[in-house]
Amino acid sequence: MRHLPFALAAATLTLAALPAHATPAEYGEAMFRLATERGCLACHALQPGAKRADGLPPIAPAWVDIARRYRDDPAASERLTRAVMSGSNPKARHWAGKVSEANMPPNAGVVTLREARALVNWILVLVP
Ligand code: HEC
Repeated sequence: MRHLPFALAAATLTLAALPAHATPAEYGEAMFRLATERGCLACHALQPGAKRADGLPPIAPAWVDIARRYRDDPAASERLTRAVMSGSNPKARHWAGKVSEANMPPNAGVVTLREARALVNWILVLVP
């Protein structure tokens, strides 16, 4: 996993979960670890992958795709943080047709608000 493009995570963000002296690489690694520990990566991948062997779409949108979609939206950080905490709305899927029928369950039981915000802000800069 170490070859992943951690350096893409720009240093311009608030390093909420880290000491202020963290380098971009340390920041990326810490956020990747947090995402792994909180179970996000059971459904999400950083990079869009090949189709699954069974031909079905991926379970959840790749985070690079999420970053591409929302990077120019100044309200995205707050809105996506809320979506992570309370889960996706089954009646208003944002990725309908692109990913599986699964919903994102509420993650409020596994992440704090601060962690969710830090993860979302990290995701939003994962744009090549
Ligand atoms: C059980 C699978 C699953 C887990 C675990 C999960 N997600 Fe998701 N996530 C999804 C699905 C499915 C969607 C697409 C929802 C939609 O179409 O609106 C999604 C969407 C998102 C979005 C985009 C929301 C939008 O409105 O476009 C973000 C950001 C996100 N997830 C972050 C996270 C983070 C951070 C975690 C870990 C704390 C996490 N997810 C855990 C399945 C999951």
